[in-house]
Amino acid sequence: MSRRLPAALGAAAALLALAAPARAQQGSPAGPVPVERLAARRAALAARMGTGVAILRSAEERSIERDYPQDSDYREKNDFFYLTGIEEPDAWLLLVADSGRVQRAALWLKPRVPAQERWTGVRLGPGPEAAALTGIDELHPADSAEAQLRAAVQRATFTLRGGALFTERTREAGDDAFVRRLGFGATRDEWLLPLRSLTYEVAQLRLVKDDDELRRERGAVTATTASITDALRALKPGMWEYEIEAMVEAGFRRRGAERVGYPSIIGSGPNSVTLHYDKNRRRTEAGDLVVMDVGAEYGYFSADVTRTVPVSGRFTPRQRAIYDLVLATQQAAIDSVRPGVTVGDLNRIARAYMKAHSDTLCGPQTCDAYFVHGLSHWLGMDVHDVGDYRTPLAPGMVITVEPGIYLPDENLGVRIEDDVLVTAGGHELLSAGAPRAAADIERTMAGKDQPAGRRK
Ligand code: GLY
Ligand code: MN
Ligand code: MN
Repeated sequence: MSRRLPAALGAAAALLALAAPARAQQGSPAGPVPVERLAARRAALAARMGTGVAILRSAEERSIERDYPQDSDYREKNDFFYLTGIEEPDAWLLLVADSGRVQRAALWLKPRVPAQERWTGVRLGPGPEAAALTGIDELHPADSAEAQLRAAVQRATFTLRGGALFTERTREAGDDAFVRRLGFGATRDEWLLPLRSLTYEVAQLRLVKDDDELRRERGAVTATTASITDALRALKPGMWEYEIEAMVEAGFRRRGAERVGYPSIIGSGPNSVTLHYDKNRRRTEAGDLVVMDVGAEYGYFSADVTRTVPVSGRFTPRQRAIYDLVLATQQAAIDSVRPGVTVGDLNRIARAYMKAHSDTLCGPQTCDAYFVHGLSHWLGMDVHDVGDYRTPLAPGMVITVEPGIYLPDENLGVRIEDDVLVTAGGHELLSAGAPRAAADIERTMAGKDQPAGRRK
């Protein structure tokens, strides 16, 4: 086709050429976050801030020379991804809020360097593609960030009455030291803006998921429950724990998950009683229970699902009795999930149920003495997601419900963990796709859960 392009098509082709760097952000099976969602999140943050300046740095690129080579996969910081939708090392986001409204949003991004792109692929750069992806049209090269951020804070000091500087508090580094210093004047004793926690404000926003966050959360949970179900059909005594881990994680990747939300826990026999056992090095033996606590990460959201199954395909009567008590306890808690209840309430409900129904199953003590961890945590971009645990449940929040009983003297540990969305009418069990009742687990392991035509 050698005809010359009509003018309009030529313009479109030029736009496409310009758009090429957006490839830097493509490839996630979860796709991009819609810009109107991103803008709505920034507006909601401004409403929480009232008046002030928020500054957020993106994640650092890790080096395969300096860090563990197997750990050098770039993952954006959750809050930065939540507010911008992009994955860009060494970038900055500035948000200025005045009386609850976004007055200014700006991004500083590393410029593109073609020679580097030969090694590490196409970058986004501070161009129109970044504006289209983020909905932020004030873009600057990252090398001017520190001076311009300082100027922005100083300007805000004069123009915003009663404002604050919102900084992030990271687990690793505490407050960002550079941003913190922006709260002071040149002499360090002249206080410009009081500091407040950006991390807390974004955490409270992240508690209630919007439709795009729920789409990702559902993707993570579905990939997880389907992969667990596949693994149950293949499980056999004599398999190594790491083989089971590999089967489950292959299922995650096949379903579009980019990584695990946390290290997979495959604890068989004696390892079933170690809560966060993730070495996964033992060979299973006939009669073992296997605790499979696994979660795919899909589009930056993590699942967290546990199934405890008999490697031989059938529970012993003793295993079954303990299992059924954990399951009934879990059901009592799940039935209580509704707006207004707190995670603390659910914990009390579960423990009271287990205590009341233990009989002599766990010996002289009631079984709740062997339920040695909390019942629930927030779930989202982090497996133990951010948010204040005093917050009453509201529609759009996602929690785990995960009672367990651990009897080390018998090498017998049972945990059942599901992911539950709070809805206006109560709740939705997101992880219903993996069999939960003992009889359903046995049926799945025997290959009898599928219609006859689909059985292999
Ligand atoms: N997978 C970690 C937990 O259940 O909290
Ligand atoms: Mn959990
Ligand atoms: Mn878990």
